[in-house]
Amino acid sequence: METHISPEIITVHHPRSPIAEAYRSLRTNLEFSSLDRPLRTMVITSPGPGEGKSTVLVNLGVVIAQAGKKVILADCDLRRPSLHEIFGVSNDRGITTMVVDEEAMKNPPLMQTGVENLFLLPSGPLPPNPAELLASRRMEEIIRRLTETVDMVLFDAPPAVAVTDAIVLASKVDGVLLVISAGQTKKEMARRAKDLLEKVNARIIGSVLNNAQIDVSLQRYYIP
Ligand SMILES: Nc1ncnc2c1ncn2[C@@H]1O[C@H](COP(=O)(O)OP(=O)(O)OP(=O)(O)O)[C@@H](O)[C@H]1O
Ligand SMILES: [Mg+2]
Repeated sequence: METHISPEIITVHHPRSPIAEAYRSLRTNLEFSSLDRPLRTMVITSPGPGEGKSTVLVNLGVVIAQAGKKVILADCDLRRPSLHEIFGVSNDRGITTMVVDEEAMKNPPLMQTGVENLFLLPSGPLPPNPAELLASRRMEEIIRRLTETVDMVLFDAPPAVAVTDAIVLASKVDGVLLVISAGQTKKEMARRAKDLLEKVNARIIGSVLNNAQIDVSLQRYYIP
């Protein structure tokens, strides 16, 4: 276990907690929903800021990696990237490096995370035009290149309603997971995100309710 991974990554720090168990249920549900159509690339987004997109993405990546699949966490929040902070590393090189550097395309600048099978691809230097970059042919090549390297790629993205980045990316991957924050995400915003995703024919795999009250009866099964 890597000590510098942020404490909010509960699947690393408290793998037997009910929350880690909930992430394993999410993993199982995703497996069942991809029986007939492959789900190797997935965007995780939410309607608004600070609803838990990046936290859900990392925890989900951890439990998928723990099940023996190779996973890349790719930071496509090219406005306010945070995955490198969660892992306590630099984002000098990353996905935007692959955009401009042929050598990085051949050899993606993946970082070890300390979790077996789990790799991090930070944002790299921030571009002036994130939405255009994500909409480009080059981005499609990058997605293909990453898929050749591992079993599953999870893409972090900015909020889906305010800027178009997540929607653009969603149209290029196998599926989208929509994070909703209990007591925070407004119904109207959730509906708007869903409409925007449907307009580009994104495949919404499901949604995750973050910040939900934990059922105390589950605590009985948790021996810290
Ligand atoms: N279920 C939770 N319980 C407690 N804290 C949480 C939970 N989910 C997320 N947080 C915390 O809330 C903050 C925002 O979470 P996170 O960065 O994952 O959201 P985000 O949707 O990716 O934000 P942004 O829109 O800025 O990218 C972080 O400090 C994170 O640790
Ligand atoms: Mg985020």
